[in-house]
Amino acid sequence: MNYKGYAYINTIGCQMNVYDSEKLADILKSHGFEMTHDMDKADIVVCNTCAIRHKAEEKAFSFLGKFAKEKKKRPDLITVMAGCVAQQEGEKAFARVPHLDLVLGTQAFSRFGQHLEDLKSGKRQIVDIEDSDMIFEAMPDMPASEIGFDGNKISRFITIMQGCDNYCTYCVVPYVRGRERSRSHSAIVDEITSLANNGIREITLLGQNVNSYGVKEKGISFPQLLERVSWVEGIARIRFATSHPKDLSLELIHAIRDIDKVCNHLHLPVQSGSNKILKKMNRGYTRQTYITRINALKKACPDISLSTDIIVGFPSESLEDFNDTMELLKEIEFDSIFAFAYSDRSSAPAAKFSDQIEEREKKRRLNLLLQLQDVYTDKRNKALVGKNLEVLVEGESLKLHDGFIKTSDRMKQMTGRSASNKIVHFPSENCAVGDLISIQIKNAYPHSLWGYPIGAEKK
Ligand code: 5AD
Ligand code: SF4
Repeated sequence: MNYKGYAYINTIGCQMNVYDSEKLADILKSHGFEMTHDMDKADIVVCNTCAIRHKAEEKAFSFLGKFAKEKKKRPDLITVMAGCVAQQEGEKAFARVPHLDLVLGTQAFSRFGQHLEDLKSGKRQIVDIEDSDMIFEAMPDMPASEIGFDGNKISRFITIMQGCDNYCTYCVVPYVRGRERSRSHSAIVDEITSLANNGIREITLLGQNVNSYGVKEKGISFPQLLERVSWVEGIARIRFATSHPKDLSLELIHAIRDIDKVCNHLHLPVQSGSNKILKKMNRGYTRQTYITRINALKKACPDISLSTDIIVGFPSESLEDFNDTMELLKEIEFDSIFAFAYSDRSSAPAAKFSDQIEEREKKRRLNLLLQLQDVYTDKRNKALVGKNLEVLVEGESLKLHDGFIKTSDRMKQMTGRSASNKIVHFPSENCAVGDLISIQIKNAYPHSLWGYPIGAEKK
């Protein structure tokens, strides 16, 4: 393997794609490529794509489309479309990007190495969207790299299950990521142990519906997996995403309460506050069951921080339905939300539903929702002023804060996250990346908190 070349990966989309890109980078490295952040220097450019909304898909096509000119100048440059859009489009991708060399679907990642060898020997226009059983177990066993794909040295994502069997009517995931399959708990624990040995302090377990981890395989449950992971020495914090409200069990609520390393934050996508829309979305729960589960959670874990996903403008969403969603935000008081205008995906059933909402109206509703949420984000952040939060130090803060400039001349300002997933800035000269440090919160801003390490406040 005396080949030497540079590889550049552009990752669009969710945390799972970040994890997948790390795996693709491992394979590239084992086939003689060195990773670069300089796209112009690259001999192979990979775009790891997302199909969840139209905009993300367009981003992928426009990124890859730009290489038409460059490929005329440098015919040896290799371009790869990987991931969800690749899986969805297959051969059709060439119609829009004729200069693509490899279309690598989500199910074909474990065969990336073989395709790289074919590409190196001159083969072009390869399409692989064939199914495969367990994608990651079939990947080459590589030592975990010290610095994450995104440059992060203390926190990593790890995919514990693939695919989805829920078939929400708006969602493309079951069609581009296949059936739900869980990885073995021993493979997961081994991977996390290897990350911990490399200094990783925080891990986020990923799946489309982690609550059903291991159910099909009749293995250990998700809460049991959390416990096993918590035994890994060196790991200080465990996060996970995403939970499906219909499967949020009491056992999981207790695991959040009882396992110290499991963070007091839950992302529980509600999607809509209207029972009519939830039914049309095929979500499998009602507004009332969602609220009941959240209340049980709040009761067991009073300082839990909550986030959610919401779709506005789903076909046939009336003003009354939209209002039900607004009222739900008022009732639950989430710490933060991710809100999206419904985007038609041709492979998902809702694309054929009648009463589609106009784009302008979707945007209007989205803005109203985000404005309303600002009130609660602010309220939840302000409630933390005066409290002590344990922060995992991520690095030096890029932004200087008003309070900081006034009160402590030129002391280094650091940043990290609380277990409740809030960004916290604080002055400190002597803490290191990866330290857990107790911060007394002095100020709350819309997207961050600011405070002093306990005992370190300057008068
Ligand atoms: N349109 C808009 N948002 C969508 N999501 C999934 N599919 C669509 C779609 N077709 C959102 C959901 C999901 C998040 C990851 O993306 O809120 O929870
Ligand atoms: Fe999509 Fe629903 Fe599966 Fe989430 S649970 S990935 S929204 S089908």
